[in-house]
Amino acid sequence: MSFPDQLEQIRSQFSSDLSSICSTQELESLRITYFGKKGLFTSFMLLLREAPEKERPRLGKLINDVKQTLLVHLENTRLRLVAEELHSQLVAEQLDETLPGKRSFLGVEHPVQKLLNRAVDIFSSLGFSVALGPDLDTDYYNFEGLNFAEDHPARDMQDTFYFPGGYLLRTHTSNVQVHFMQDHTPPIRVIAPGKCFRNETVSGRSHVFFHQIEGFYIDKQANFASLFSIMRAFCRQLFSSDIKVRFRPSYFPFVEPGIEVDIACLQCQSKGCKLCKETGWLEVAGAGMIHPNVLSKSKIDPEKYTGYAWGIGVERLAMLIYGIDDIRIFSENNARLFEQVAFNS
Ligand code: DAH
Repeated sequence: MSFPDQLEQIRSQFSSDLSSICSTQELESLRITYFGKKGLFTSFMLLLREAPEKERPRLGKLINDVKQTLLVHLENTRLRLVAEELHSQLVAEQLDETLPGKRSFLGVEHPVQKLLNRAVDIFSSLGFSVALGPDLDTDYYNFEGLNFAEDHPARDMQDTFYFPGGYLLRTHTSNVQVHFMQDHTPPIRVIAPGKCFRNETVSGRSHVFFHQIEGFYIDKQANFASLFSIMRAFCRQLFSSDIKVRFRPSYFPFVEPGIEVDIACLQCQSKGCKLCKETGWLEVAGAGMIHPNVLSKSKIDPEKYTGYAWGIGVERLAMLIYGIDDIRIFSENNARLFEQVAFNS
């Protein structure tokens, strides 16, 4: 094949190779194949040596002209590919508003906190102020000052976490009664919301920590009738204005007489169901007239003053009101669930 024919073959091969190039990367390897140090054009130039001497300048020029033309094509293609690649990169980086967004989550009030706040509001409207007491306390404030004798069997009812140095985690908020009576003189009208701890097996119905709202009223004429009306008023405001409330005798060492406060079952209206264990009633609080021993241990004269007190289990109430059937849910901090609770009530 003559020189010009071979050159024409290279040229047409180059054109067809160039037309199938899709990226600058492919283009670069094409450049090396044709125009690199060991490329087709270089080796073609070397072949010139075999041509008759007087032909060489003309053929050399011919090769160079073709090479320059092809290099122009190569450069044009390179510019087009660079522009295309830049464009698709920009498109890829563009904001796509059809993609799902990242949801930012706002915290919600914990149902227990929500109920505590509601209860505090109700009791405040009934004239009670809030007092707080220590979670870590001594036997005296948790038991002794509340008329639990050292060998009192009721101590076993409240499995206690004990610590070195005579400390314990309070098993109820009733310890605030003793602290408050020591520092104040009647009339006293106080509620004490807070955490309590018991060394119990954790299950759907009981936990090692929970909340109570203690309440106590000490004055010259505190009486049972007034305790009943406070408890009734609280239940009516919290549940509904026509809820049935009943009182039944019970025993706690620090009150005499002691009672249990029940409301008509929210689910079956006293007909009997699983929630109320077929009794028709749900327990809301323990209460009673403060035992004279409790008053006198804290230097309040039981001849002059009488008092009543109550303790409300907050988780129990929150479970009833917000329809939660496992107490462990409160400490799992499932924000989605709490969000639903917040939404539904
Ligand atoms: N402290 C009791 C408990 O944890 C609840 C209680 C019952 C508190 C009667 C009171 C009361 O103040 O009068 O089970």
